[in-house]
Amino acid sequence: MARARMGHYGDYQNEIYGAGLRGVLPKLPVDHATLCARASAAMPPHILNYVQGGCGDEHTQDENARAFRDWGMVPRMMVDCTTRDLSIDLFGLRLPSPIFMAPIGVTGIVTPDGHGDLAAARAAAITGVPLCASTLANDPLEDVLAASGDTPGFFQLYTPRDPDLAASLVGRAEAAGYKAIVVTLDTWVTGWRPRDLNTANFPQLRGHVLTNYMADPVFRRLLGKPPEADPAAAVGLWASLFGKVLTWGDVAWLKSLTSLPIVLKGICHGDDARRAIDAGADALYCSNHGGRQANGGIAAIDMLPDVVKAAGDVPVLFDSGVRSGSDVVKALAIGARAVGIGRPYSYGLALDGAAGAAHVLKCILAEADLLMAVNGYPTIADVRAAGARRR
Ligand code: FNR
Repeated sequence: MARARMGHYGDYQNEIYGAGLRGVLPKLPVDHATLCARASAAMPPHILNYVQGGCGDEHTQDENARAFRDWGMVPRMMVDCTTRDLSIDLFGLRLPSPIFMAPIGVTGIVTPDGHGDLAAARAAAITGVPLCASTLANDPLEDVLAASGDTPGFFQLYTPRDPDLAASLVGRAEAAGYKAIVVTLDTWVTGWRPRDLNTANFPQLRGHVLTNYMADPVFRRLLGKPPEADPAAAVGLWASLFGKVLTWGDVAWLKSLTSLPIVLKGICHGDDARRAIDAGADALYCSNHGGRQANGGIAAIDMLPDVVKAAGDVPVLFDSGVRSGSDVVKALAIGARAVGIGRPYSYGLALDGAAGAAHVLKCILAEADLLMAVNGYPTIADVRAAGARRR
């Protein structure tokens, strides 16, 4: 799938330098700090607050990114790295790279046209990087996957309180062709988010990103009338149904809804990892939701080693605080099977739609690939064997 995409991901720098010889500079910056500053200047404040903000004083979300600096890789020399292979096996798929786009529930409104979910999916098609599509979207999950081309997608489930609605969403995702169901565990209620509270803005309550519900036959039956006829009632029903409190006994039920792998997102403790596997989870996803849900203080990357240790052979996905290719390689070295990119691709989308998100992903992959080239790790297995050291 990805020779044009791959060759080597690091070749992206040759493209950039080559264009420079013709006087063409990259349209978007290649580093996160400048990207974030550009997006902050460009995005409407209510959307920027929602994307950039987090829980409490945002200590945890800052720590998530900062803590990567406590980890490092030791270079190895005299290794032939002229050919690198960044591909991974996940859910029975061979994926060309070890990254994916984490689910972001306001992607739909991040692009000015209100179709950010489709733009993210097109970025997946361009790069081969799967999109984990959020339940909260402006376009139906079926259309989002269709826009991903031949790149596989995963569906993130916010489990509704109504079991028939949950079954309907999962069934639609499986029928559409998604390859895994990612069940988010940490968001049956929204965390305390001062930026949104100070502006009294919660996008869903204003009717944004609820298309998967409004288009759903079970939701429409529960509403008893077309959502268009009474938008306020539709939003009210959505709010009343949004967040089921999941406990371990629910994993068997979730698995009964689908033949797809069930991934539990939000596992940060070794004991929870063991319980999840005992309960039948097919994969674990270590994440603290980018510090948006609980301002708990410990960076996600610092919780990853315990989860990996407890997981054994069960794949562990990871996100929260990943800002660069070096961060990706560190997470892989600690034992993540695949690494989720969150806010950075949102900024790319906001600045330049699908091309912007694709650029962000290509920069991250280029930096990861070049780190592997320089440090003597031709494959992800070599990265894993090298491990990461804490400063
Ligand atoms: C999220 N995240 C999220 N997670 C999820 O399971 N479903 C969702 O709909 C959302 N929505 C969402 C919106 C926004 C604006 C953000 C920033 C994040 C969490 C997301 O999947 C991921 O865990 C974090 O983005 C990782 O943190 P960083 O790396 O983006 O800081």
